[in-house]
Amino acid sequence: MKVPFLDLKSQYRIIESELSERFDHIFDSTGFVLGEEVERFETDFALYLEAKYCVAVSSGTAALHLALLSSGIGINDEVITVPNTFIATAEAISYIGAKPVFVDVDPQTLLISSGELKKAITPKTKAIIPVHLFGQPCDMASINSIAKANNLIVIEDACQAHGAELFGTKVGTFGKAAAFSFYPGKNLGAYGEAGALITNDEEIYKRAKMYRDHGQAKKYYHELIGYNYRMDAFQGAVLNAKLKHLNEWNEQRRRNADLYRKYLSDAPIEFIEEVPEGNGVYHLMVIKSKNRDELKAFLEAAGIQTRIHYPIPIHLQNAYKELGYRNGDFPISEHTAQEILSLPMFPEISEEQIIYTSHRIKKFYEGKNEGSGAKETQEAYSIN
Ligand SMILES: Cc1ncc(COP(=O)(O)O)c(C=O)c1O
Repeated sequence: MKVPFLDLKSQYRIIESELSERFDHIFDSTGFVLGEEVERFETDFALYLEAKYCVAVSSGTAALHLALLSSGIGINDEVITVPNTFIATAEAISYIGAKPVFVDVDPQTLLISSGELKKAITPKTKAIIPVHLFGQPCDMASINSIAKANNLIVIEDACQAHGAELFGTKVGTFGKAAAFSFYPGKNLGAYGEAGALITNDEEIYKRAKMYRDHGQAKKYYHELIGYNYRMDAFQGAVLNAKLKHLNEWNEQRRRNADLYRKYLSDAPIEFIEEVPEGNGVYHLMVIKSKNRDELKAFLEAAGIQTRIHYPIPIHLQNAYKELGYRNGDFPISEHTAQEILSLPMFPEISEEQIIYTSHRIKKFYEGKNEGSGAKETQEAYSIN
């Protein structure tokens, strides 16, 4: 049996005919950038999240950049975030001339630790970017209360958490602004690059909208030096066709996560815990294994694709050398980077595929218990 890490084709089949109608309409109108489809998506995605405003942009990275820029954060400000995220979270901070300040994560949830966050605040701190990693909501009540006490702006990185909830409220609406990515493999994925900024703040909305389109409020009247961060019409069409399925697809992901937990309950691996009152959307199904690299190779040989999100924490990346961080600065993030493994996860994965994957994981550990050495590993590799 083959188990791909991700399968984007099944969803395409569901929306195929609707999409070709929407695409035909775009070809007819020749409005290829922004336009009707993008505006409809902005309205519907804001409604979906119960937020006031949505600005559709060209990527999650652009959304993070504009969220920071439009909130008035800038040169020499410090912005606190986590090292166990995709590098775009830190890059957006660097784009505006601010300094990324990392804090370690909670060992159970792998989300920002409120205790560590408090310790990292200095007079230069202007903002916090909690990352709803793997589709699991951060503890926004604690984060917001720390932010309030210290007069800090909260920008949520919700790039992996479309539809995730905390106390019944969708993430992306807890902070001053939030960024979503619609990179194809995301829970709500475009067929190219796309993203969105969400806010309830009218000023941030107006500024972000101008920045997205070369700083113009009206065609060729430029109020600010902006960017070309516009979303194209085709991505708007794909997102409109997919948005109405998002809740159902997220439910399927949660059901799949439950199945993994059931079939792996007696395996010597660890799961990532959810925060209380959270309703995560399992963008990724991450486990921790003490023999991660061996297990990954074993599964690969059995036709099961896995990934690592992410193998090197940002503070140890060459790109951020000049910040001066060292190995040992964030032990939880560093240690878990050696153990985390993302298992195949997408709404349409079958129970058989989950059983097969779980069975192979258990077989791998049986091989380990029976003895050590290359022979057992080699034999185990050949089991199909
Ligand atoms: C946590 C996180 N932040 C930011 C981004 C950046 O989004 P994009 O790839 O759409 O620029 C991603 C996307 O991979 C992400 O996972």
